[in-house]
Amino acid sequence: MRVLILNGPNLNLLGTRQPEVYGATTLKNIEQMCRAYAPEAAINFAQSNHEGVMIDAIHAAKSTQDGIILNAGAYTHTSVALHDALASVELPCVEVHLSNIHAREPFRHHSYVAPVAIGQIAGFGAQSYLLALDALSAHLAKT
Ligand code: DQA
Repeated sequence: MRVLILNGPNLNLLGTRQPEVYGATTLKNIEQMCRAYAPEAAINFAQSNHEGVMIDAIHAAKSTQDGIILNAGAYTHTSVALHDALASVELPCVEVHLSNIHAREPFRHHSYVAPVAIGQIAGFGAQSYLLALDALSAHLAKT
């Protein structure tokens, strides 16, 4: 499985950013956990604070990846452009969040990613990414 694991704004600050919400694990730790958990996968792990860079990464994934695991950070709740990019490339996408966005402020309850994702995993901290790897792998095995 070739997978783009794409992380959005502020996720580069994991480890020091609101650890009571997001935990003490850094994004580098999460990348290492993903690689150790799925050594057979070709993982392209990326992070950007810029919406356009994320859109370019999604476009590039169309011909190079089998699927996408996306933590779009706050763009989850705002970005029609990311929604459109995901709809355009027609790759299976698993939406992930460290926190349970549905148990937080109302503005985090809506996701523009969800309608163009095969499913959403939220609330399990860094383990959300490992669950997403399982979910994407199972989905690809069926198709
Ligand atoms: C997040 C949840 C978002 O609401 C927030 O803006 C983030 C992180 C999460 O992983 O829990 O930046 O996507």
